Amino acid sequence: MIRDFFGNDFGLVFFYKLFLVCQFVFALVTIFLLFFITAPYGKHSRKGMGRLIGARVGWVFMEFPAFFVILLLFFLFKAYENPVLVVFICIWELHYIQRTFVYPFLISKNGKPMSILIPTLGMLFNAMNGFINGVGVFYQDVNVGKYTLSWLYSPQFIVGVIVFLIGMSINLHSDYVLRRLRGPGETGYKIPDKGFHKLVASPNYLGEFLEWVGWAILTWSWAGLAFAIFTFANLGPRAYKNKLWYRETFKDEYPENRKSIIPFLF
Ligand SMILES: NC(=O)c1ccc[n+]([C@@H]2O[C@H](COP(=O)([O-])OP(=O)(O)OC[C@H]3O[C@@H](n4cnc5c(N)ncnc54)[C@H](OP(=O)(O)O)[C@@H]3O)[C@@H](O)[C@H]2O)c1
Repeated sequence: MIRDFFGNDFGLVFFYKLFLVCQFVFALVTIFLLFFITAPYGKHSRKGMGRLIGARVGWVFMEFPAFFVILLLFFLFKAYENPVLVVFICIWELHYIQRTFVYPFLISKNGKPMSILIPTLGMLFNAMNGFINGVGVFYQDVNVGKYTLSWLYSPQFIVGVIVFLIGMSINLHSDYVLRRLRGPGETGYKIPDKGFHKLVASPNYLGEFLEWVGWAILTWSWAGLAFAIFTFANLGPRAYKNKLWYRETFKDEYPENRKSIIPFLF
């Protein structure tokens, strides 16, 4: 059965399936571990976690593979010949151009440095995820006859795009609200109280999660599903830790009914 799933040749599709299975397993391990260990950056930075590097450089290095690997595969597979795949790459890169080349330069120059562990692990994950999504969505042997022009009128594409855009708007707005909390030169933390911040401790993570749920729906792919699940496994526990951190730091000032990442639920 395992041989039927992976096939006999050690080609692209074999490695795609192998990494895809790994990503589902990593998601399970990650959600479990991150309730015990908090990634050392931002509010949760701490000493003794290896060398530190500036947050801006860290973000660019960490996100670059997700921007680059999928683009490389897109051209290698000549996916530009299919208009549906051109729309897909535009949607993916809309997020990753922002995250890699814009977001790092919007955060403060004086922002907290991060442990080098974070961009190193982030780069590895993003390279793997770029590969899985690159092959899983853009390689025709995996999706024989799936993405014909009518895909762009299908309910899953339309719903997925809407969810992706709502997610991206929530993510961008929530990050914008956070940036506006500090005056020039300030480095401390305040309680955010605008937009989705009224409902959850980490609405930027909620937005990010919705984006990849949208991607999973609009591509209707295993690769998209694995990414959406991993995003929740990574950001859900951190949002929970953020909520605890706010409660501990601001005590009664912090609204009691505010959830971690999913409004009214968690
Ligand atoms: N796809 C993924 O799995 C993934 C993983 C991680 C992050 N991301 C995305 O990357 C972006 C940044 O993530 P992050 O984990 O760095 O988010 P974050 O902890 O919310 O921090 C975002 C920025 O806001 C500042 N900030 C946060 N809380 C603040 C407060 N209460 N008062 C004043 N300033 C505050 C932070 O400063 P400090 O640096 O000084 O704390 C940082 O510059 C988000 O959009 C997130 O969704 C995605």
